[in-house]
Amino acid sequence: MAGKKTGRYQRIYRQLEQLTEKCPDPLARMATVNAILFHKMQGFSWVGFYLLKGDELIVGPYQGPLACQVLEKNKGVCWAGITGQKTVIVPDVHEFPGHIACDARSRSEIVIPLRSNKGEITGVLDIDSRYRDHFNAEDGRELEKICRLIYRPGCS
Ligand code: SME
Repeated sequence: MAGKKTGRYQRIYRQLEQLTEKCPDPLARMATVNAILFHKMQGFSWVGFYLLKGDELIVGPYQGPLACQVLEKNKGVCWAGITGQKTVIVPDVHEFPGHIACDARSRSEIVIPLRSNKGEITGVLDIDSRYRDHFNAEDGRELEKICRLIYRPGCS
């Protein structure tokens, strides 16, 4: 039987598929993804996007407490997602060298690189939790799937 989290991700994905089809604008889609994830997933204390502008990572749409606007280059979890080009799961941020603490209460974090249709990395989806070890491989897979909705073709 599918677990609680699995069912929740399935419902969220169906809802986001419908919502993102209505508006092709990536920023509007990011804002929509944040609102749904922040309010419907348990234990997500901050959900948002950092976007690559030149060689800087600048905050985009988010939900949660005030966050850093610019992330120091090649430092922290978000930059690790960009340079490694794959999902990063940090069970305890206190043990991640260089972690950038925008919110001192964060304990674990997941970062998913965001790719354009051409396969270029344009930024990351970043999610924090106040619980230690809150994210696992299932979160990684489901959130990667959700990230693919941001640039998918849609009707307007
Ligand atoms: N912790 C991130 C910075 C962004 S905040 O979590 C919102 C990092 O180390 O890159």
